[in-house]
Amino acid sequence: MRTQVGIVGAGASGLMLGQLLHLAGIDSIIIEAATSEHVIERVRAGVLEQTTVDLLRESGVGERLTREGMRHDGIYIAFDGNRHRIDLAGLTGGRGITIYGQNEVVKDLLAARHRSGRPVLFEVAGVTLSGLDTAQPLIQFSHDGRREEIRCDFIAGCDGFHGVCRPSIPAAAVSCFERSYPFGWLGVLANAPPASDELVYSLHDRGFALFSMRSPQVTRLYLQCAADENIDDWTDARIWSELRTRLSTRDGWAPNEGAITQKGVTGMRSFVVEPMRFGRLCLAGDAAHIVPPTGAKGLNLAIADVWRLARALEDRLRGGADDRVLNDYSARGLRRTWRAQRFSWWMTTMLHREEGESRFDARRRTADLEYLVASTAAMTSLAENYVGLPLD
Ligand code: APR
Ligand code: PHB
Repeated sequence: MRTQVGIVGAGASGLMLGQLLHLAGIDSIIIEAATSEHVIERVRAGVLEQTTVDLLRESGVGERLTREGMRHDGIYIAFDGNRHRIDLAGLTGGRGITIYGQNEVVKDLLAARHRSGRPVLFEVAGVTLSGLDTAQPLIQFSHDGRREEIRCDFIAGCDGFHGVCRPSIPAAAVSCFERSYPFGWLGVLANAPPASDELVYSLHDRGFALFSMRSPQVTRLYLQCAADENIDDWTDARIWSELRTRLSTRDGWAPNEGAITQKGVTGMRSFVVEPMRFGRLCLAGDAAHIVPPTGAKGLNLAIADVWRLARALEDRLRGGADDRVLNDYSARGLRRTWRAQRFSWWMTTMLHREEGESRFDARRRTADLEYLVASTAAMTSLAENYVGLPLD
C-alpha cells in the first residue's frame, strides 16, 4: 500500500488527524491494534475546551456534540466541607467547557472516517516502523493473517503512551521527562442523575474525589486511591460510602446514587518527550505526552497537536521544501504541552493527599486552596487554563 500519511492508532488523535487531512484533500491510512468496539467503548475523560468544541464543529463532526454536549460555565472546588464556585465564563470573557465523553468523540470521528471512504484497519498486529529518516518511511504489520506494508511520505504516531512509535525513535535522538504520583483514580459510571449542574473537585482528609457527569441520567465519579489499588477490593457499597464521605458538603449537597455500570483504576503520571518529531515520524497525543487527569487536559492537548500537525503536513505535502514547519510543529507543541503540564501538576498536587507527606506540605496545600477561592487573580489563572488557551 502507498499513502501520503500513515497514521498509527485510531484513538482521538489518529481519527481527528485523519479527518483534518481528509478535509485538506490529503490521503491517509489508519491502522489500529484494537477492535473498533474496544475503541468506541473505552471509557475515558469527558471535558472539552471551547477550542476543541469549535474545531470538532468546523471539521464536520460536531452535530451530536452540539445536541448532546453539556455546556458548563463554572466548576466547584470543595475543601473543609465547603463548596466554592469558580465562575469560568465570568472570569474568561464568556469561555466555558463542554461535557461529552471522549468515546463519544471517537464514535463521531469513526462515523466521519467511514463516510470519507478512506481506510481504517482494525486488529493489526506486529507493527514495525523503518526508514524514518528517509523520504519514504515504511510501516509493516500483520492484518487478517497476512503481512502488509504501507509506504508513506510521513508517519503520524498516534498510538498512545504504550504504542510502538515513540520507542521506534533511537534513544539518543530524544529526551524524556517524567514524574509519577503515588496514587491513582478509581473511576465509576453510575445510572444516577447528576446532583449538581457543574463538576465538583473535592479535597477531604481521606483524599480527593471528583463529581462529574456524562448525561442527564449518568454520573461519572472518581476517588483518589493507591496507584496499585485492586478494584476487586471495592464493592459498590464501599465506593458509595467513600464518595459520600469525601464529596458531601455542609450545605447539604451530596451526589445522587444509582447502579454502578462500569468501574476501573487508572494510574497518574506526567510525561513529555522532546522533540515530538524524528525524521518523517511525528508524534501526537498520548504517544508524545501524558498529563494527570486532574486538569482535564489530555484529550484537549491531543486535539491541539493534530490540528497543528495537519497544518504542518499540508504545508509540507503541498511543496514546502524544508523541515522548518515540522520543527515548528514540535517547538510550538512543546510550549503548549509544558503549560498544560504545569497546570495539571498544580491541580493534582493541590487536590490530593500523599501518604507520609510532611505537615508543612499539608498546611501549604490548605493555604493554596484558601488563596485560590479568596483571590480573583488566582481564580482567573485557574479559569483561563481550565477553559484552555487559544490554538497557536
Ligand atoms: N499499532 C496500532 N495501534 C496501536 C498500537 C500499535 N502498535 N499501540 C496502540 N495502538 C492504539 C491503541 O489501541 C489506541 O486505540 O493507539 C490508540 C491510541 O489512542 P489513545 O490511547 O486514545 O491516545 P490518543 O488518541 O492520543 O488520545 C489521547 O486519550 O488517554 C486519553 O487523556 C488522554 O484524552 C487523551 C486521549
Ligand atoms: C470526567 O468527566 O471524566 C473528568 C472530568 C474532569 C476531570 C477528569 C475527568 O478533571
